[in-house]
Amino acid sequence: MKNIILTGFMGTGKTAVAKELSSLLNLKMVDIDNEIEKAEGITINEIFERYGESKFRDIETEMIKKISPEKNLIISTGGGVVLREENIRMLKENGIIICLIASPETIFERTKNNSDRPLLKVSDPLKKIKELLEFRMPFYKKADIIINTEGKAPLQIAEEIIEKIKWI
Ligand code: S3P
Repeated sequence: MKNIILTGFMGTGKTAVAKELSSLLNLKMVDIDNEIEKAEGITINEIFERYGESKFRDIETEMIKKISPEKNLIISTGGGVVLREENIRMLKENGIIICLIASPETIFERTKNNSDRPLLKVSDPLKKIKELLEFRMPFYKKADIIINTEGKAPLQIAEEIIEKIKWI
């Protein structure tokens, strides 16, 4: 079976949905950010602080290169993975890309009490979310399937994904 890859902005529920998919389909789940933290021995926050975003993007691409050839995985990606065409090309070779979307306000509510997202550590996170979303939307839209997560629980979203991939 092809890998199921979850993309989408921070706070759209990729990790929670990936967990549900993993248990419903009995497939191994891999979280790219977790794999990066394990491999580097430091948190994503620390990578951004010490080396900056562009170095993080290089590490991210290397991790995708390592993981994407594997099969039968549920892969949860970081919100910026779509920004490099190379990442999407590698992930698509072996998988179906599902993008989760939500409104800026919902994303803000879901991320506001969490300090592990370096890009949102700014004075006006909602404004930043809106700006990043606007810039990234064309990239997110390249997914095979787009799912609106608004008002839905992770299990419900996972079931919707399973129903939709039957037709691909
Ligand atoms: C990022 C999203 C984060 C993480 C890093 C950068 C982004 O992952 O990869 O902080 O650029 O959107 P989540 O989407 O899992 O929060």
